[in-house]
Amino acid sequence: PIKRMWGGRFEEAGDDFINNFGASIGFDQEMAEEDIHGSLAHVKMLKATNILSENDADQIIAGLEKLEQKLHQGKLKFSVDNEDIHMNIEALLTEEIGPVAGKLHTGRSRNDQVATDLHLYVNERLPLVIQALRNLQRVLVNKAEENVETIMPGYTHMQHAQPISYGHYLMAYFQMFQRDIERFEFNKQHTSISPLGAAALAGTTFPIDRELSSQLLGFNQPYANSLDAVSDRDFVLEFLSNASILMMHLSRLCEEIIYWCSYEFNYIELADEYSTGSSIMPQKKNPDMAELIRGKSGRVYGDLVGLLTTMKSLPLAYNKDMQEDKEGVFDAVKTILPSIKIMAGMVKTLHVHKARMEHATHNDFSNATELADYLATKGIPFRQAHEIVGELVLQGLKTGTNLSDIPLNKYQEINPKIQKDVYECLKPKVAVERRQSLGGTSFTQVREQIKQAKELLANH
Ligand code: ARG
Repeated sequence: PIKRMWGGRFEEAGDDFINNFGASIGFDQEMAEEDIHGSLAHVKMLKATNILSENDADQIIAGLEKLEQKLHQGKLKFSVDNEDIHMNIEALLTEEIGPVAGKLHTGRSRNDQVATDLHLYVNERLPLVIQALRNLQRVLVNKAEENVETIMPGYTHMQHAQPISYGHYLMAYFQMFQRDIERFEFNKQHTSISPLGAAALAGTTFPIDRELSSQLLGFNQPYANSLDAVSDRDFVLEFLSNASILMMHLSRLCEEIIYWCSYEFNYIELADEYSTGSSIMPQKKNPDMAELIRGKSGRVYGDLVGLLTTMKSLPLAYNKDMQEDKEGVFDAVKTILPSIKIMAGMVKTLHVHKARMEHATHNDFSNATELADYLATKGIPFRQAHEIVGELVLQGLKTGTNLSDIPLNKYQEINPKIQKDVYECLKPKVAVERRQSLGGTSFTQVREQIKQAKELLANH
């Protein structure tokens, strides 16, 4: 029978199957480095406050540093007998330096320890996510710059609505990812708080210095309330929520990429390396990577909903349910980082069929608003103008005539104020150019967006 660290009050050794069910070492070894760092800060604080003698503390510090080295060399062997990463590290430390290792856990509990590890884990990954998103933004800006004057149909309800600039479309995603970055930035405020020293739930009788251990770990401040410190997983939920919103954005972009490289749209073509073939249909070029990112949004939402559900009825403070907090966040990190990277590469290398995009705006009545606006500027109330154009569209659909093919005398029958210049307005490119309102799709406005985006990126 194995001897467990908390085994004193137990008479039986327990059952392997049950112990395995309760163990978390299978997944929380992902936080081995964070656990060692948390312990180093704790023991340095114990030394500074004279809670441990210099000699004891130094042995523990040297032992932990040795363990970190071994971890990097892949030489640490974890055992399910020690249940979780915290007790595994302590057991390995004992092997390394002997019973003095037992002094490390003074004034600390696994409850504040695991919370500390998880704060460190998320805190260290936030900059990686933000950096990846910045790179994606750069790709979008560059692509937008190449496509300011690329005309495409803008859609509502998946129906041709008004012509827009493809650069404008790309910059919309730039903005979405900007908000994602801001959310992850804000997330730092809540990951950068130290639970260490909250101990099990109530604080400790030892004269610890929580400010010091917080500083040593690079956190902004310690939690103000020890119960909150060990019970709080909001920072993880915020991360998962931010990750879910991000995946929703990526998935919408994927959806459009998938449509647009279909035969029917044919607006873009993906680079070969982001596509796959079919084992039976030789002609196929499938947008697998876009589909996979779209699909992975589901698992990240699952990570969020899973933890929300785990947390929702938990009484304060620690409950074993909370052991379920880790796999979802590990999974989310491992899903979003490559998804962002793949998306950046996919957008960077995709080929735009500019002529085909613009052609799609030529026979589609997406210039109908132009005509209504034109009539309104000639003094016809917009509602009436809308009605007139609607009837022209209906006739056009029946006879196969575009608005730009209707002869001038026909227009003048409708209203003599309509002049030859109406045909200029009906050109998709002109329709785009004329949308000069702030944030609109005109080339000048899109260039302005790009300019501001570049300024923002230059500062990051
Ligand atoms: N393995 C546990 C977890 O992941 C660590 C905390 C255990 N604390 C306790 N009181 N059982 O949550």
